[in-house]
Amino acid sequence: MKEQESTDVLVVGGGIAGCAAALSGARDGADVTLATKARRPEDASTWWAQGGIAISRDDPEQFKQDIIDASAGTADPDAADVLVENANDAVRDVLVETLEVPFDTAGDTDEDFDFGREAAHDEDRILHVDASTGTYVLERFLAFVDDHPDIRVRDDTAALDLITHEGEVRGAYLESDGEVWPVFAGATVLATGGIGDLYPASTNPTGSTGDGIAMAALAGADVADMEFVQFHPTVYVEDGETLLISEAVRGEGAILRNDYGERFMPAYDEAAELAPRDVVARAVKRERQLSGEVYLDVSPVDFADRFPDLREQCERRGIDWESGIPVQPAQHFLCGGVTVDDRGRTSLDRLYAAGECAHTGVHGANRLASTSLLEGLVWGLRTGQAAVGRDPAPMDVPALDDRDPSLPDSFAREKFTRLRRVMNEYVGIERNPAELDRALGVLRRLKGEVDSYARTRTSRSLYELRNASVVALLVARAAAENDESVGTHNLIEPDAPLAE
Ligand code: SIN
Repeated sequence: MKEQESTDVLVVGGGIAGCAAALSGARDGADVTLATKARRPEDASTWWAQGGIAISRDDPEQFKQDIIDASAGTADPDAADVLVENANDAVRDVLVETLEVPFDTAGDTDEDFDFGREAAHDEDRILHVDASTGTYVLERFLAFVDDHPDIRVRDDTAALDLITHEGEVRGAYLESDGEVWPVFAGATVLATGGIGDLYPASTNPTGSTGDGIAMAALAGADVADMEFVQFHPTVYVEDGETLLISEAVRGEGAILRNDYGERFMPAYDEAAELAPRDVVARAVKRERQLSGEVYLDVSPVDFADRFPDLREQCERRGIDWESGIPVQPAQHFLCGGVTVDDRGRTSLDRLYAAGECAHTGVHGANRLASTSLLEGLVWGLRTGQAAVGRDPAPMDVPALDDRDPSLPDSFAREKFTRLRRVMNEYVGIERNPAELDRALGVLRRLKGEVDSYARTRTSRSLYELRNASVVALLVARAAAENDESVGTHNLIEPDAPLAE
């Protein structure tokens, strides 16, 4: 085992939430270590965020109301207030002034922003850079934290487990290049992103195995709303590879058509293509069952000029976008996660969480478009501040020796395939109690098999598999325990008839 290290604040994760926590912790005088298992910026979900980042324009109350309406009334109004009230200052301070993100403009000045529209928003309020907003934000953020004298960035470095002592978290075991060592921290901030690896088709990058949620849950932290898994309705999927077609394209007027060429969304919701995401995802799934394919008809939009990056991505994949882009729902975002308060504090002392792995309550049962970067930024900044002020408390810990780092590739592959199949079949867009019960049985057995290996080995891929199996069980259990169909948790009768 390598020598132990100490730091004031240990941030685990290198997306927008982790970078924001590192920035604000360092601004408040902390010495920060940011560990990310990402090898490249593309390994973080932030990189792939297309639509943009919503802010309050003239009517913050309406923004809050849109968040609540999109969540089918389940979003926590106090959390929504925190998001809306802090949105503009956070975006101005960090994204516009510090990082100088080149948001698209509509007029002559740098600040005459070209606000975009997305589903379930009452007005145009999305700041964006083409449809590659996350890429521009993350490139600049990573460069900033890399250059910061008080932030030590360790990439290709995974957190395997939290170090706990009498109900408080003292840091984490980190792993890089097969070596494992303890890092003691005054505070540990989890910002590990989503759970896309639990599903066969996801817009998340590979490696989204719910690490922070699993580590926190195993350490005894509270989690909430784990059943609310959001599926994005318009994703091009080929051989398991995904290309998200941003909601901004529908915001500009693109139309969904079934295989018969019929526009179907008005029959499902009066807001048609701009209905909340869960509604559109279910409709797309149904229409694919009824007719075969569903296409996004981009002919009402100046697609080539307004979305040049997406057009290029389509052409690179040989998609004839002028004839309509074939789309289907794919896993996109987890609305639940590790329970935190308005400063990112979890139920365990010295443990914090921000971004997708955290449950702030803002999203309730269904997230409003273009609020995930914003939540990561706002809560990341607040969490980083709150995490400052405690000295690390090193202690004697057992070595996590590399007793046998080798793991047959086929073991992890086979378990992941089974896990994804179960999640997709039984814990996907539509669920029913009997299938959820079945999923629980399979997932419990699978976790048992993985655990028996995890006790003797420390390879990163095994920990990812362990984390995925822990989180899959949390999702399935929460879904089985919630008998109310709401937002992304959609219960159906096993033999429900298809929509007329
Ligand atoms: C999109 O561009 O459609 C995704 C935006 C989001 O998930 O908020």
